[in-house]
Amino acid sequence: RKPVTLHRLREMHAAGEKIAMLTCYDASFARLLDDCGVDCLLVGDSLGMVLQGQPSTLPVTLDEVVYHTKSVTRGNRSAWLIADLPFGSYQGSREQALHSSVALMQAGAQMVKIEGGGWTAETVRFLVERGIPVCAHLGLTPQSVHALGGYRVQGRGESQAMTLKHHAAELADAGATMLVLELVPGALAAEIGALNPGLMTIGIGAGPQCAGQVLVLHDMLNVTRGKLPRFVRNFMAGASGIEEAVRLYVQDVKNGRFPDPERHSY
Ligand code: KIV
Ligand code: NA
Repeated sequence: RKPVTLHRLREMHAAGEKIAMLTCYDASFARLLDDCGVDCLLVGDSLGMVLQGQPSTLPVTLDEVVYHTKSVTRGNRSAWLIADLPFGSYQGSREQALHSSVALMQAGAQMVKIEGGGWTAETVRFLVERGIPVCAHLGLTPQSVHALGGYRVQGRGESQAMTLKHHAAELADAGATMLVLELVPGALAAEIGALNPGLMTIGIGAGPQCAGQVLVLHDMLNVTRGKLPRFVRNFMAGASGIEEAVRLYVQDVKNGRFPDPERHSY
């Protein structure tokens, strides 16, 4: 297939075609996911938990995300490639965020993802003005897990919802083109998407009314042990193998069969 560009993603968004994203950390899976039609690959700092066995994403370093981004870049042929700015790699200053983003882009990323709202808008503007496409991330932002008091649904209640909407609008104004919404009520995610038509909302536990969806690869392939969040679906159930599971995921996202508003949403 032709390379997925930001222009192509915007066309899909405008046409109402859902964007299918998965996390990816190595070359072999990059090739497989790309072959199965996954639109966007995210080198997430979830690699700390998934690959390293850390209790959170906080220990992940910029060098580690760079390493995995290089691997994914070698395996990928056409998917849009996003890399996470890890904890401590962007909070210091706009310049620090730029230097970290340059490292990710030079490793092969086409877009960087940054957690948080409010103060981050200024950083997003700084990066976008310098030619770096940015995906923002609101709701449950795992790098702030200790401040948030655990992995819990965000944006419940009037004032939390207002703050989230305000942050999303600021990030859109700053030039962010994508916005991951994690663990927020489906109705709120839908409203944020409707209020910011220029922003492609990518949901994870944020209901079906987002421009696209993302899951952690090892979760949807049923590799992750232990209790999984309710928003995860095991795509290996009923699939003959990994490739079919990934194709089912892409198909179900595109057809609106995942997420299920009853079982995978809040
Ligand atoms: O690191 C990650 O995997 C993520 C996604 C869950 C959005 O940030
Ligand atoms: Na992340």
